[in-house]
Amino acid sequence: MEQIFQLSLRILGIETAVDETAAAIVENGWHILGSVVSSQVDLHAEFGGIVPEIAARSHIQQIIPVIKRALKDSRLSLSEIDILAVSTTPGLLIALLIGIETAKALSLVLKKPIVSINDLESHACAVLLERKDFFKQITDPRSWPLLYLIVSGGTTALILAQSFGNFQIIGQTRDDAAGEAFDKVAKLLGLGYPGGPAIEKRAQEGKPNAFDLPRPMLHSGDFDFSFSGLKTRILQVVKEHQDSFSSLSENLISDLAASFQKAVVETLLKKTVSAASKFAVKGVIVGGGVAANSLLRETFYAQLALPAYFPVKHLCTDNAAMVGGCAYFYAQNEVFTKQEELKPFYHKTIQGKLCEY
Ligand code: KG4
Repeated sequence: MEQIFQLSLRILGIETAVDETAAAIVENGWHILGSVVSSQVDLHAEFGGIVPEIAARSHIQQIIPVIKRALKDSRLSLSEIDILAVSTTPGLLIALLIGIETAKALSLVLKKPIVSINDLESHACAVLLERKDFFKQITDPRSWPLLYLIVSGGTTALILAQSFGNFQIIGQTRDDAAGEAFDKVAKLLGLGYPGGPAIEKRAQEGKPNAFDLPRPMLHSGDFDFSFSGLKTRILQVVKEHQDSFSSLSENLISDLAASFQKAVVETLLKKTVSAASKFAVKGVIVGGGVAANSLLRETFYAQLALPAYFPVKHLCTDNAAMVGGCAYFYAQNEVFTKQEELKPFYHKTIQGKLCEY
């Protein structure tokens, strides 16, 4: 479907899929007027992972103040918003519901349309944010098809996309997501939560070839991933060393962090290269929290043999600017979601079809 780019469309994006309460106002798919993310990291840190009940209670407290702050930062009032957008999938049911019900209420009161957004696609759209120069290049139909590699705390997926709004998941994790593996391995190594940044930091002091760790499912013949075996291998090494020395040495922790990080990055790269070649894509967008990882970025830039696009680092993890940015492409095609169709785990495609994930 041809995309027409109209000026000054201000979209209020709302995101409560997991453990961030976020709201942002984005103009024309790329320009962030105001973006607020209230992170729950401290609330979940002591559990080493996300506790859904705690996440939902925090979203309820934060959602209205976060929206108000985003509007204030944008110097806009609610009546100046043209469209609402909310992420409806994937995520935690009781977390998603808070964003969805808030967006519905605002849409009823303001009499403005809503766009339901799939978070995986919005992570890819994050590459456009604050990149006006790049916006023109990437919205040029000649830059497509593209492959998205979305690597977050809850998902690892390869997605084939013909344009924004027109995509198909071609592979995903069969167990842990890449970010989840980072979080669990960091917990095993006593490095804290969230695990990704902690492992990345610690890996700088370690030897990436110190341990010969598995690269799971590289020869599975499909584009699925599995990270639980890698995590179990780390657990075995930890147990072997804890038996003989009672606690892990600092060097061993650094070496395991570096070896684990390298194994994840190599696995992601190889799967992406084979999907890119099979579907003859013209470039790869990498999004989601793990896309902030420097080794991943450097490796893809150096070894992909195709253009690799990453969002700026602070826009890799969950935020609402990517939701407001992504909705622009739906709004341009006048694809909105009816109140009664706005549900967790549902997403409306740009062709107007309701999909369940
Ligand atoms: O996209 P995101 O906010 O997703 C979910 O909430 O699901 O990403 C969060 C995930 C966490 O698992 C975190 O450990 C990981 O992204 N992460 C990283 C890095 N920064 C965040 N993983 C590896 N390296 C990083 N620098």
